[in-house]
Amino acid sequence: MDANQAENLFESKLAKNEMIEPKDWMPENYRKHLIRQISQHAHSEIVGMLPEGNWITRAPSLRAKLVLLAKVQDEGGHGLYLYAAAETLGTGRAQMIDDLHSGKAKYSSIFNYPTISWADMGAIGWLVDGAAILNQIPLCRCSYGPYARAMVRICKEESFHQRQGFDILLALANGSPEQRAMAQDAINRWYWPAVMMFGPSDDASTNSAQSMKWKIKRFSNDELRQRFVDMIAEQIKVLGLVVPDPELRWNEERGHYDFGPIDWDEFWNVVNGNGPCNRQRLRTRVEAHEEGEWVREAASVYADKKRSRENQTKAA
Ligand code: 3HC
Repeated sequence: MDANQAENLFESKLAKNEMIEPKDWMPENYRKHLIRQISQHAHSEIVGMLPEGNWITRAPSLRAKLVLLAKVQDEGGHGLYLYAAAETLGTGRAQMIDDLHSGKAKYSSIFNYPTISWADMGAIGWLVDGAAILNQIPLCRCSYGPYARAMVRICKEESFHQRQGFDILLALANGSPEQRAMAQDAINRWYWPAVMMFGPSDDASTNSAQSMKWKIKRFSNDELRQRFVDMIAEQIKVLGLVVPDPELRWNEERGHYDFGPIDWDEFWNVVNGNGPCNRQRLRTRVEAHEEGEWVREAASVYADKKRSRENQTKAA
């Protein structure tokens, strides 16, 4: 097959909504675009374990501890599926991790905010995982097979995460006045960063147009953000609390909620490494990697030994 035929086949698969698989021919920029997005996504899952990991030892009951522990483990698992999906595109895991640790690779802005009360576990589950699901369900239909398939399981687990977050907030909202105030305070701090998670507005989104053509992205950043605002504006009524946006109002004509201006300076400040916890998050990741060196070494020596024993048995 010559280069033109290969490209035509790629385009015709996209047109028919067929998946592109690792051994298929693909344009070099499609491959790079996917490595960028999937590795950033994997890093977000791994760094995303830190703000909640902070509360495992301080969970208010054994049940709450078990649930939080399971959730944080899920995030670790998501990171591993996603690194594996990125590896099918020809990049190495060590390289991706180096790029995270050196600050070259991005990860989601949201994980650079501190978790200062138990209610933050509720706000993260409900708002952050809620935003993540809206963004990630369409990725189950993205054009690259290994990424799309990884997303199916991830989205199932994220739905559980969102419910556990809502459950925490509901308990606090129905609790003492102090608990209610704690839930409101967490929502006040997490709401806008969650709205920002969807990325820059469409006119400032450098990757969207090409991503849509390649059927990686199915909806734009602003479309998904609007869905999120609409969903949260309704769900918060059940909690009897409020979102920190005085301009949030149902717009009959649009059939959507209008909302106030987003602080894009804050967003870019966090994306560019200057959020409240960026340095702390990276330092923790680098330390964990260094402290885990002996585990990686032991695992690889064990794998070598096992392989050589198997070879000896085969040769005998
Ligand atoms: N945080 C950090 N950087 C962000 C960002 C955010 N919230 N939103 C956008 N950016 C970056 C982009 O990566 C891009 O930078 P780059 O060109 O250097 O890579 C730049 O800002 C411009 O943004 P674009 O809109 O052009 O970028 P994309 O088209 O890639 O859209 C995205 C951004 C919507 C985040 C898209 O990459 C995406 O859907 N990614 C997959 C999902 C994902 O990574 N989610 C992160 C959260 S995971 C999570 O929450 C874990 C869960 O368990 C809670």
